[in-house]
Amino acid sequence: MGARVARAGDVVGAVRGDGTEESAEAVETVALARGFDHQDPAVAGEIHDILGRFRRHCPVAFSEAYGGMHVVTRYADIRQVAQRGETFSSAVDLGAVVVVPEIAGVRAPLFELDLAEHTGWRRHLQRFFTPAAAARHEPYIRRVSREAVARIAPRGRADLVAEYAAVVPLLVVGELLGVPEPQRPRLAELARGLTTASGAEEAARVGRDYAEFLLGQIRDRRGRAGGDLLTSVVNTEINGRAATEPELLKFVFLMIAAGNLTTTDQLASALLVLAEEEGLRRRVAAAPELIGDLVEECVRHESAVAATGRAVVADTELGGVPLAAGDRVLITWGSGNRDEEHFPDGGEFRLGRSRPRKPHVGWGAGAHRCLGMHLARVELRVLLEELLAAIPEFRLEPGAAPERTYGVIRGVRSLPVTWPVPG
Ligand code: HEM
Repeated sequence: MGARVARAGDVVGAVRGDGTEESAEAVETVALARGFDHQDPAVAGEIHDILGRFRRHCPVAFSEAYGGMHVVTRYADIRQVAQRGETFSSAVDLGAVVVVPEIAGVRAPLFELDLAEHTGWRRHLQRFFTPAAAARHEPYIRRVSREAVARIAPRGRADLVAEYAAVVPLLVVGELLGVPEPQRPRLAELARGLTTASGAEEAARVGRDYAEFLLGQIRDRRGRAGGDLLTSVVNTEINGRAATEPELLKFVFLMIAAGNLTTTDQLASALLVLAEEEGLRRRVAAAPELIGDLVEECVRHESAVAATGRAVVADTELGGVPLAAGDRVLITWGSGNRDEEHFPDGGEFRLGRSRPRKPHVGWGAGAHRCLGMHLARVELRVLLEELLAAIPEFRLEPGAAPERTYGVIRGVRSLPVTWPVPG
């Protein structure tokens, strides 16, 4: 993995060693944290062990990755960072690759704003994300989920990530934004192209085409009345100011990412559990009313939004560690959701935890808590209902060992499964 093992001298003073085995592990963990890079594919397979060690020995750990950041791993500290918007700003860069030059250095409305500016946008957008608004997307979600299932069902085998989990969420974000239905496959192709680009050159080319497509959507809506989210965002003023074109472009990029990769990867994690645990799969297939609970436990157990950042804007202290203005922190939401203090046996997937003593933080916390959570819940429920109704007996292909991913997003790279087909 990317973690470099530091010499003992590097960490003297960071941990009060007393010569016991416990303190040796603590010293080693602080060294491990220094080399920790959440975007290094090599950490994905062991991430829960790594973050569990950080929680025990250095809950606000220091990593040298991306110019240095504090890695916040305990539930209580995570909630504090999320709730103290005056100290922890959402305008932060933690090694994101910018493929579209127009949006470099631009602050996206909503996502990257703080306090009053953020609240203005959040209030404006709220009506597109209420439970009732989410329910209005259900017929479309069900139709495209059913179509995706019908394409694979007769085959008896599929990669449930590429051929199912990754298919529907992009179309749904298209509907949410108000992209006309015939153009949604193009949107999906461009967005997918960006995540699958094989190198910087291809990523830059796809990025240009993608930006052009989205700018077309934005310009088409100027001065128009309309009930969709994008028309409303293009034609509004928040706190007396309309968003500039680069701000709108970054907003749409981030909205598509927020609605797509998250839901795809959350579904992939749920499907992996179901493919591996036959008893659970059969129980849920026979009682689909359990699916809502399954979704919530999955968001806790393998939180798809795994790690996002904040910039420290005023000197402060967190879990006994001093933080200075200008420092950056990485919030590891999934680690908070396995914090032993709040979720004993948190590594276990268990239905029926839906009302824990403290709510899980898989949807975030504080002012930036997931705006799309009701929509995501509808999507995940419908996608699981449709798959389990048509293909209740899927299981991992013999010999398959699905590779986990980690970074900003936690998921599964591919999920080859098989099921019996009649005849
Ligand atoms: C299972 C799927 C999803 C998960 C686990 C998830 C999780 C999260 C988390 C943890 C945050 C907070 C990030 C932070 O504070 O740094 C967040 C923010 C956000 N999510 Fe989701 N999300 C999901 C799906 C969606 C969907 C489908 C949409 C809409 C299309 C969406 C829209 C947003 C938006 C707009 C924000 C930013 C809110 C703000 O800054 O005020 N999310 N999400």
